[in-house]
Amino acid sequence: MSVPFTPMTFEIETKRLALRMWKESDAYWYRELVAERGVVKPTLENARKKISLFRKGAQENGISLLSIQRQNEGDFIGYCGLIIGRSSLEEPEIAYELFRSVHGHGYATEAASAIVNAAMATGRHRLWSTVRSWNVASFRVLEKIRFERRLRTWDEDGELVWNVRDL
Ligand SMILES: CC(C)(COP(=O)(O)OP(=O)(O)OC[C@H]1O[C@@H](n2cnc3c(N)ncnc32)[C@H](O)[C@@H]1OP(=O)(O)O)[C@@H](O)C(=O)NCCC(=O)NCCS
Repeated sequence: MSVPFTPMTFEIETKRLALRMWKESDAYWYRELVAERGVVKPTLENARKKISLFRKGAQENGISLLSIQRQNEGDFIGYCGLIIGRSSLEEPEIAYELFRSVHGHGYATEAASAIVNAAMATGRHRLWSTVRSWNVASFRVLEKIRFERRLRTWDEDGELVWNVRDL
């Protein structure tokens, strides 16, 4: 599918982190991360399929979630990136999820800030993020990267807050 935007860069380095396109070997850690949500851990085969879908989506849409490694430790700590989500390819959502063991060190903010810059470089003018009203940590990350709360909607899982950042 051709889109009127430059494809997002899929390799980003920040002060402490390396954000990269998913590799098949990330499947092991991706399973562990999903399991931390308190849901059934995906099989290795399903985790590999998911990663292959991330890679295919990146080729088709020019945006993607990226895996995050810490540069010093070299370990996989989660992901951050752009998804269509509840929004659109033109105004995608920023999304992130990190292992609990690394929360509170500013990693999500560092990664998300780099993703905002990468989104700007594609020529986009606006990003969204939909967050459950209880998710204080996620709101704080968004606040630090200059998103503003815009509207509230409700679905079967409760209240959803739509946050926006004009680029
Ligand atoms: C949201 C998430 C990615 C944040 O990751 P992180 O690396 O810990 O984020 P940062 O350290 O960059 O920033 C977190 C901020 O939230 C604050 N925070 C975290 N929990 C908090 C709480 N219960 N009350 C108040 N502030 C809180 C931290 O103090 C920090 O703010 P500060 O820098 O002003 O001190 C992480 O909590 C996560 O993976 N959660 C599960 C997945 C998820 O919810 N993803 C978002 C879906 S919308």
